[in-house]
Amino acid sequence: MPIVVVETVAALRLGLEPLRRAGVTIGFVPTMGALHDGHAGLIDRARRDCGRVVVSIFVNPLQFDRPDDLARYPRTLARDLEMCSSRGVDLVFVPDAGEMYPSKAVCTVDPGPVAEHCCGRYRTGHFRGVATVVTKLLNMVQPDVAYFGEKDAQQLAVIRRLVADLNIPVAIVGVPTVREEDGLALSSRNVKLDPEERRLAPCLYAALQEAALRVEGGAADPDAIRQAAAARLPRDERLRLEYLEVVDPESFQPVTRVAGEVIVAGALWVGRTRLIDNVRCRQLAE
Ligand code: PAJ
Repeated sequence: MPIVVVETVAALRLGLEPLRRAGVTIGFVPTMGALHDGHAGLIDRARRDCGRVVVSIFVNPLQFDRPDDLARYPRTLARDLEMCSSRGVDLVFVPDAGEMYPSKAVCTVDPGPVAEHCCGRYRTGHFRGVATVVTKLLNMVQPDVAYFGEKDAQQLAVIRRLVADLNIPVAIVGVPTVREEDGLALSSRNVKLDPEERRLAPCLYAALQEAALRVEGGAADPDAIRQAAAARLPRDERLRLEYLEVVDPESFQPVTRVAGEVIVAGALWVGRTRLIDNVRCRQLAE
């Protein structure tokens, strides 16, 4: 089936009709474009699981806390559509801001305590913006399954919470993080790194791996784990650690002692670019 590209909610509804009529499972991958192999992982998984695959591409102004970040966000629509087409996507929804927010989003979705810490603490309103746009997109597409990356673990926790609490009838699937060979998690923001910054960037994952090693070795004190991880970062004026937290995977509240499974999440500024990453790990020994 040739790929269908639609820009309005009305055209989306029309375009979805034959997909729904086919009586097969509809998989949905929401994105902000600038698609890379991390997004491809989600699309491929949806393609494997579902009869039809819908992708949305929308740079959501409501989730940007800094205007310069929104302005600098990479936009590569022609390439994105080619990628969707080559991976067998059936329908791409590409609305503009006026189509998504005709009433300036007076009603928004407050994700509550799951958005309090980590990125939520440093990016005011970010997860309200994510929760609002994802709720709208799920209501527009009404998929059976929606796919999100574990790379954005707090976002995934927010979405699992909102789908459960607001009774949205969709299954949420988390897809493992796709990384470069040196460990750097693929991100649309990586293209903003200059060669020297790109060389430094994998240190965030290296620090998180150090934390995971400690947790798996039986370390229980989150402060000691955080310190050991932060000590792995090279001293360089281009690097600034924003946060490094040991949290419960579901509630995203910092733990006071590690017991069982945790997520260690971090945000690191590399020059003018903010990178986030996380690892999930389990205490193996007491
Ligand atoms: P975006 O950053 O474009 O990411 C779209 C999806 O791709 C998210 O679920 C994200 O977690 C996933 N993803 C990004 N990099 C990945 C990687 N290296 N490995 C695996 N998955 C990866 O996240 C958003 O857009 C927006 O917040 C959105 C959910 C679309 C709402 O606006």
